[in-house]
Amino acid sequence: MQKLRQVYEGKAKKVYATDDPELYIVDYKDDATAFNGLKKGTIVGKGVINNRMSNLLMGLLEKNGVPTHLVRELSERETLVKKVSIVPLEVIVRNIAAGSFSMRYGVAEGVAFEEPVIEFSYKNDALGDPLLNTSHALALKLATPDEIETIKAYALRIDRVLQEFFAGCGVTLVDFKLEFGRDSNGRIILADEISPDTCRLWDSATGEKLDKDRFRRDLGGVEEAYAEIMKRVVEHEAT
Ligand code: TMP
Repeated sequence: MQKLRQVYEGKAKKVYATDDPELYIVDYKDDATAFNGLKKGTIVGKGVINNRMSNLLMGLLEKNGVPTHLVRELSERETLVKKVSIVPLEVIVRNIAAGSFSMRYGVAEGVAFEEPVIEFSYKNDALGDPLLNTSHALALKLATPDEIETIKAYALRIDRVLQEFFAGCGVTLVDFKLEFGRDSNGRIILADEISPDTCRLWDSATGEKLDKDRFRRDLGGVEEAYAEIMKRVVEHEAT
């Protein structure tokens, strides 16, 4: 499968058309941004790790009844995926208070929720991805009522599967961000990536952050944290 032309460049990935109109190739970069692109940097080797980890986790989700865009990994940084039209919602699932939730609602980081919290933002860089609720999303026609229900149900199932998987790696899944798309039949499937860029992952024993917060917050040891979480995921997957 060959890359024909670049159709999109995001902050962390490039997307290419292929000779199959239903398939795209995504190419993961080492570029890292935070705060809507205000902070820029490079995390050496991140693209390779995120490509592998996202594919491994999407494979696990497929086995657990969540349809995804994954077709097959092509190389260290490249994956063949189903072409989708992205639903312009960032779907965030939280098990423990952290990040913007802690800031917005004045809750200390680390406070566990009894039930997962699902949050939507409008995926719109010009507006700074504002938080919105289901009624806003329907008013803006970002998705249909059925699509929103499907997305919420998948998000909760993904949370259950990933929490269990990461627990087996000695890691607590604090929160994560998902993006969904519509395939050529209009079906909702999981798209984008699931990686240390898009999840908060804390060592279950020490609380050490093994995710992109090390970059966002200048905590140091960024590459080491990505390598560590990758090692644990690969080892656990093999068991
Ligand atoms: P937040 O607490 O900053 O809202 O982040 C919630 C989760 O979403 C966290 O796991 C990081 C992830 N995330 C992204 O993947 N992309 C983003 O642009 C932002 C702001 C957060």
